[in-house]
Amino acid sequence: MGALIQQYQDRFKESQRLFERAKRVAVDGVQAPGKADGPYPIYTAKAQGSHLWDVDGNEYIDYILGLGPMLLGHNHPYITQKLQEQLSTYVLNSTPTALEVRLAERLVEAIPCADTVRFTTSGTEANMLAVRLARSYTGRDILLRVKDDYVGWADALIPGMFVPAHQPGAGRAWGLGGVPEATRGLTKWFDFNDTEGFLRLVDQVGKDRIAGVIMEPAYRASLGPQPGFLETIREVTKDIGALLIFDEVVTGFRLGLQGGQGYFGVIPDLASFGKAISAGLPLGILAGRRDIMGRMATSIPSEERVYQSGTWSGMPLVSAAALAVLDVLGQPDTYPKLHRMGERMRREVQEVVCRHEVPMTAIGLGPVLEIAFTDEPVISPSQNLLKVKPEDIKEMWAALVLDGMLTVSKGYIPALRCFISLAHTEDDMTRFISALDRAIEKVFGR
Ligand SMILES: Cc1ncc(COP(=O)(O)O)c(C=O)c1O
Repeated sequence: MGALIQQYQDRFKESQRLFERAKRVAVDGVQAPGKADGPYPIYTAKAQGSHLWDVDGNEYIDYILGLGPMLLGHNHPYITQKLQEQLSTYVLNSTPTALEVRLAERLVEAIPCADTVRFTTSGTEANMLAVRLARSYTGRDILLRVKDDYVGWADALIPGMFVPAHQPGAGRAWGLGGVPEATRGLTKWFDFNDTEGFLRLVDQVGKDRIAGVIMEPAYRASLGPQPGFLETIREVTKDIGALLIFDEVVTGFRLGLQGGQGYFGVIPDLASFGKAISAGLPLGILAGRRDIMGRMATSIPSEERVYQSGTWSGMPLVSAAALAVLDVLGQPDTYPKLHRMGERMRREVQEVVCRHEVPMTAIGLGPVLEIAFTDEPVISPSQNLLKVKPEDIKEMWAALVLDGMLTVSKGYIPALRCFISLAHTEDDMTRFISALDRAIEKVFGR
């Protein structure tokens, strides 16, 4: 165990105690694998704006933001007010509400590919629905996806995930337990930004067997598409009668109100959203063309109809949150500010790593920063890029936590990942850059 991980191990006593209790009643002590990092997770006591306090009384600047949803920061006053108003009105009912109509109208107005929308409770569910609609609409079974790009945990969405090159068991398939053999064979994959590989795969599979392609327009809002990559996929899917599905769970509402499709100017047939739209409440959205979404309509013969439902779909509390988020996102300075902050972080991180002459690179789009542990260009998550020892990533992560900075160290790109919110201040960023400077000194300067 590295010295800094050891310090971490000894430091957060109450978090450690909670984790010991959790392990007795929850598998691996967590409710989702991404929510634990290091020897044990930091347990949150409260959060406000861009800051978070743990159960041991330590204060942090939060660059995890719930793995992306808290784009406006924690407890944004306007969102909190709208949630409180809705909480004292009603939480859930089984008849529709004006809120859900208003929300659907505003989403259709904002999202280029949206003629209609359907609400779910998670990004995974929105993607499950997208895949089912694509299969129903085209009458074909095969789904193409980007290798190593997490798009949810459903049967169709998991094949194509492999253990990252910088982790033990590198290259082995990941998460296939319980996915039927017959289903596994229906999902095929290509590398992000590999246009030739995509074209070869289409030829191999056969164009009349492909129902659709599901992919993020920019890999986790960290890697943008190379020129022509999205455009080729758009053109080919159209030519062969397959659907293009953009997973905008991370890019959506983060790169701009129109998501990645507006940012890159490539419009898919269907697009899923989640995370940033609802200020921490559970909402997934599938948006898309009327003729495709219409496969769910009761006018379709029952045996052909695509069925999707949910007790919490259109939940008033969630709709109120999303409407309030859209109000804030619609302010003229919101996106310029988010982009400015991301640019400042990437620029200053790059200056620090250059000064230390360590093999690290700042990448990311909009309010997303990844500090990749390589000095080579990062083009795809499936490249083997690592230029430091895998333990050094953990040591860097621990050094930052010990210095009051929460980042994500898990992922395909060997990197530390930071989500930036509207609540982050210039001072928060200055403090991050200084903490990074000290962390590099501790890990690589010794
Ligand atoms: C790109 C992407 N798609 C889909 C999902 C799944 O969303 P959810 O966790 O809401 O099911 C995630 C979750 O991290 C994601 O990052």
